[in-house]
Amino acid sequence: MPFHTEVPARVHRALARASELGFPGVCEDPVGPLLATLAAAVPPDGRILELGTGTGVGTAWLAAGLGRRGDARLETVELDESLAAAVRADDWPPYVTVHTGDAEALLPTLGQFDLIFADAVAGKWTGLDLTIDALTPGGLLVVDDMDLGRYPDPQHRATVLRVERTLADDPRLVPARIAAGTGLIIASRRPDHLATTAGQSSSARPD
Ligand SMILES: C[S@@+](CC[C@H](N)C(=O)[O-])C[C@H]1O[C@@H](n2cnc3c(N)ncnc32)[C@H](O)[C@@H]1O
Repeated sequence: MPFHTEVPARVHRALARASELGFPGVCEDPVGPLLATLAAAVPPDGRILELGTGTGVGTAWLAAGLGRRGDARLETVELDESLAAAVRADDWPPYVTVHTGDAEALLPTLGQFDLIFADAVAGKWTGLDLTIDALTPGGLLVVDDMDLGRYPDPQHRATVLRVERTLADDPRLVPARIAAGTGLIIASRRPDHLATTAGQSSSARPD
Protein backbone atom coordinates (compact mmCIF):
# COMPACT_ATOMS: atom_id res chain seq x y z
CA MET A 1 0.00 0.00 0.00
CA PRO A 2 1.48 3.44 -0.88
CA PHE A 3 2.54 5.68 1.99
CA HIS A 4 0.02 8.47 2.40
CA THR A 5 0.00 11.54 4.63
CA GLU A 6 -3.40 13.05 5.30
CA VAL A 7 -3.42 16.76 4.52
CA PRO A 8 -4.55 18.69 7.64
CA ALA A 9 -7.51 21.10 7.39
CA ARG A 10 -5.29 24.11 8.20
CA VAL A 11 -3.03 23.22 5.28
CA HIS A 12 -6.09 23.08 2.99
CA ARG A 13 -7.12 26.54 4.23
CA ALA A 14 -3.61 27.93 3.70
CA LEU A 15 -3.56 26.51 0.16
CA ALA A 16 -7.00 28.07 -0.46
CA ARG A 17 -5.64 31.46 0.74
CA ALA A 18 -2.77 31.08 -1.70
CA SER A 19 -5.22 30.49 -4.56
CA GLU A 20 -7.43 33.40 -3.51
CA LEU A 21 -4.49 35.78 -3.16
CA GLY A 22 -2.66 34.52 -6.24
CA PHE A 23 0.34 33.67 -4.05
CA PRO A 24 2.68 31.32 -5.93
CA GLY A 25 5.32 30.57 -3.30
CA VAL A 26 3.78 27.83 -1.16
CA CYS A 27 6.07 25.03 -0.02
CA GLU A 28 5.86 21.89 -2.13
CA ASP A 29 5.72 18.25 -1.18
CA PRO A 30 7.49 16.57 0.49
CA VAL A 31 8.51 19.59 2.58
CA GLY A 32 5.15 19.92 4.34
CA PRO A 33 4.87 16.40 5.76
CA LEU A 34 8.60 16.49 6.54
CA LEU A 35 8.10 19.68 8.58
CA ALA A 36 5.33 17.95 10.54
CA THR A 37 7.59 14.97 11.20
CA LEU A 38 10.46 17.15 12.43
CA ALA A 39 8.16 19.40 14.49
CA ALA A 40 6.80 16.38 16.33
CA ALA A 41 10.36 15.54 17.42
CA VAL A 42 11.36 18.87 19.01
CA PRO A 43 12.38 18.42 22.65
CA PRO A 44 10.23 19.43 25.63
CA ASP A 45 9.64 23.22 25.60
CA GLY A 46 10.95 23.15 22.01
CA ARG A 47 10.90 26.24 19.83
CA ILE A 48 10.26 26.30 16.09
CA LEU A 49 10.85 29.21 13.69
CA GLU A 50 9.69 29.65 10.12
CA LEU A 51 11.21 32.45 8.04
CA GLY A 52 8.68 33.51 5.39
CA THR A 53 5.10 32.66 6.37
CA GLY A 54 3.51 33.16 2.95
CA THR A 55 -0.11 32.05 3.30
CA GLY A 56 0.72 29.68 6.15
CA VAL A 57 1.19 26.31 4.43
CA GLY A 58 4.49 25.52 6.17
CA THR A 59 3.14 26.96 9.43
CA ALA A 60 0.12 24.67 9.19
CA TRP A 61 2.29 21.59 8.60
CA LEU A 62 4.52 22.53 11.54
CA ALA A 63 1.46 23.01 13.75
CA ALA A 64 0.14 19.63 12.60
CA GLY A 65 3.37 18.06 13.84
CA LEU A 66 3.13 19.78 17.21
CA GLY A 67 -0.54 18.84 17.55
CA ARG A 68 -1.90 19.62 21.00
CA ARG A 69 1.48 20.09 22.65
CA GLY A 70 1.21 22.86 25.18
CA ASP A 71 4.92 23.15 25.93
CA ALA A 72 6.30 24.06 22.49
CA ARG A 73 6.27 27.38 20.62
CA LEU A 74 5.95 27.99 16.88
CA GLU A 75 6.93 31.42 15.54
CA THR A 76 6.77 32.52 11.93
CA VAL A 77 8.01 35.77 10.37
CA GLU A 78 6.48 37.46 7.33
CA LEU A 79 7.54 40.75 5.75
CA ASP A 80 4.26 41.35 3.92
CA GLU A 81 1.74 42.80 6.37
CA SER A 82 -1.34 41.70 4.43
CA LEU A 83 -0.11 38.11 4.19
CA ALA A 84 0.74 38.08 7.89
CA ALA A 85 -2.71 39.46 8.74
CA ALA A 86 -4.47 36.88 6.55
CA VAL A 87 -2.58 34.04 8.24
CA ARG A 88 -3.08 35.48 11.72
CA ALA A 89 -6.84 35.59 11.10
CA ASP A 90 -6.97 31.79 10.80
CA ASP A 91 -7.67 29.57 13.78
CA TRP A 92 -4.29 28.59 15.31
CA PRO A 93 -3.32 26.85 18.52
CA PRO A 94 -2.17 29.34 21.21
CA TYR A 95 1.49 28.37 20.72
CA VAL A 96 1.59 29.96 17.23
CA THR A 97 2.86 33.55 16.83
CA VAL A 98 2.91 35.32 13.46
CA HIS A 99 5.47 38.15 13.48
CA THR A 100 5.34 40.89 10.87
CA GLY A 101 8.74 42.20 9.88
CA ASP A 102 12.03 41.60 8.14
CA ALA A 103 13.45 38.22 9.13
CA GLU A 104 17.02 39.51 9.09
CA ALA A 105 16.17 42.37 11.43
CA LEU A 106 14.13 40.15 13.77
CA LEU A 107 16.43 37.12 13.90
CA PRO A 108 18.88 38.53 16.48
CA THR A 109 15.95 39.38 18.77
CA LEU A 110 14.08 36.07 18.75
CA GLY A 111 16.46 33.76 20.61
CA GLN A 112 17.34 30.19 19.68
CA PHE A 113 15.25 27.48 18.06
CA ASP A 114 15.27 23.69 17.88
CA LEU A 115 13.89 23.65 14.34
CA ILE A 116 14.15 26.41 11.73
CA PHE A 117 12.49 26.37 8.32
CA ALA A 118 14.35 29.03 6.30
CA ASP A 119 11.94 29.87 3.49
CA ALA A 120 12.40 33.60 2.84
CA VAL A 121 15.01 35.61 0.99
CA ALA A 122 16.18 36.94 4.35
CA GLY A 123 17.83 34.38 6.55
CA LYS A 124 18.54 32.13 3.57
CA TRP A 125 19.90 33.86 0.47
CA THR A 126 21.08 36.71 2.71
CA GLY A 127 21.85 36.65 6.42
CA LEU A 128 22.21 32.86 6.60
CA ASP A 129 24.75 33.32 9.41
CA LEU A 130 21.99 34.84 11.57
CA THR A 131 19.82 31.79 10.98
CA ILE A 132 22.62 29.39 11.88
CA ASP A 133 23.35 31.43 15.01
CA ALA A 134 19.66 31.10 15.96
CA LEU A 135 19.84 27.30 15.81
CA THR A 136 20.20 25.66 19.18
CA PRO A 137 22.93 23.00 19.51
CA GLY A 138 21.23 19.76 18.49
CA GLY A 139 18.73 21.73 16.41
CA LEU A 140 17.72 21.18 12.79
CA LEU A 141 17.73 23.65 9.90
CA VAL A 142 15.58 22.98 6.82
CA VAL A 143 16.44 24.94 3.67
CA ASP A 144 14.50 24.34 0.49
CA ASP A 145 14.64 25.68 -3.10
CA MET A 146 18.21 24.36 -3.35
CA ASP A 147 17.80 22.49 -6.66
CA LEU A 148 20.20 24.26 -9.04
CA GLY A 149 18.39 22.72 -12.04
CA ARG A 150 15.47 25.08 -11.39
CA TYR A 151 17.48 28.25 -11.85
CA PRO A 152 18.65 29.43 -15.27
CA ASP A 153 19.75 32.82 -13.86
CA PRO A 154 23.55 32.65 -13.29
CA GLN A 155 23.37 35.16 -10.44
CA HIS A 156 20.80 33.10 -8.53
CA ARG A 157 22.74 29.90 -9.24
CA ALA A 158 25.78 31.55 -7.67
CA THR A 159 23.69 32.44 -4.62
CA VAL A 160 22.41 28.87 -4.26
CA LEU A 161 25.97 27.54 -4.54
CA ARG A 162 27.19 30.03 -1.94
CA VAL A 163 24.48 28.96 0.50
CA GLU A 164 25.25 25.30 -0.13
CA ARG A 165 28.97 25.96 0.48
CA THR A 166 28.25 27.88 3.69
CA LEU A 167 26.15 25.00 5.03
CA ALA A 168 28.79 22.43 4.05
CA ASP A 169 31.74 24.36 5.48
CA ASP A 170 30.30 25.55 8.79
CA PRO A 171 31.96 23.36 11.43
CA ARG A 172 28.85 23.65 13.61
CA LEU A 173 26.67 21.91 11.02
CA VAL A 174 26.17 18.41 9.64
CA PRO A 175 24.23 18.92 6.38
CA ALA A 176 22.52 16.44 4.08
CA ARG A 177 21.17 17.10 0.59
CA ILE A 178 17.80 15.54 -0.23
CA ALA A 179 16.88 15.47 -3.91
CA ALA A 180 13.16 15.94 -3.45
CA GLY A 181 10.68 18.73 -4.12
CA THR A 182 12.50 21.96 -4.89
CA GLY A 183 15.74 20.53 -3.49
CA LEU A 184 16.27 20.31 0.24
CA ILE A 185 19.21 20.65 2.55
CA ILE A 186 18.72 19.62 6.16
CA ALA A 187 21.48 20.47 8.59
CA SER A 188 21.80 19.60 12.24
CA ARG A 189 23.84 21.77 14.59
CA ARG A 190 26.44 19.93 16.63
CA PRO A 191 26.75 20.44 20.37
CA ASP A 192 29.10 23.46 20.76
CA HIS A 193 31.99 21.49 22.29
CA LEU A 194 32.13 19.25 19.17
CA ALA A 195 31.99 22.09 16.66
CA THR A 196 35.63 23.10 16.87
CA THR A 197 37.14 21.41 13.81
CA ALA A 198 37.06 23.88 10.90
CA GLY A 199 36.36 22.98 7.28
CA GLN A 200 34.38 19.78 7.75
CA SER A 201 32.36 19.33 4.59
CA SER A 202 30.03 16.35 4.21
CA SER A 203 32.90 14.49 2.51
CA ALA A 204 35.26 15.09 5.43
CA ARG A 205 33.25 14.08 8.46
CA PRO A 206 35.00 12.51 11.41
CA ASP A 207 34.48 8.75 11.77
C1 LIG B 1 8.57 30.97 -0.34
S1 LIG B 1 7.46 32.05 0.45
C2 LIG B 1 7.11 31.24 1.98
C3 LIG B 1 6.22 30.07 1.83
C4 LIG B 1 5.80 29.46 3.12
N1 LIG B 1 6.91 29.23 4.03
C5 LIG B 1 5.11 28.13 2.88
O1 LIG B 1 5.48 27.13 3.49
O2 LIG B 1 4.18 28.08 2.07
C6 LIG B 1 8.53 33.34 0.99
C7 LIG B 1 7.86 34.37 1.86
O3 LIG B 1 8.88 35.14 2.45
C8 LIG B 1 8.42 36.46 2.57
N2 LIG B 1 9.57 37.35 2.70
C9 LIG B 1 10.33 37.91 1.72
N3 LIG B 1 11.31 38.65 2.24
C10 LIG B 1 11.18 38.55 3.60
C11 LIG B 1 11.89 39.09 4.68
N4 LIG B 1 12.93 39.91 4.49
N5 LIG B 1 11.49 38.79 5.94
C12 LIG B 1 10.41 37.97 6.15
N6 LIG B 1 9.70 37.43 5.14
C13 LIG B 1 10.06 37.72 3.88
C14 LIG B 1 7.62 36.68 1.30
O4 LIG B 1 6.70 37.74 1.46
C15 LIG B 1 6.97 35.33 1.12
O5 LIG B 1 5.68 35.33 1.70
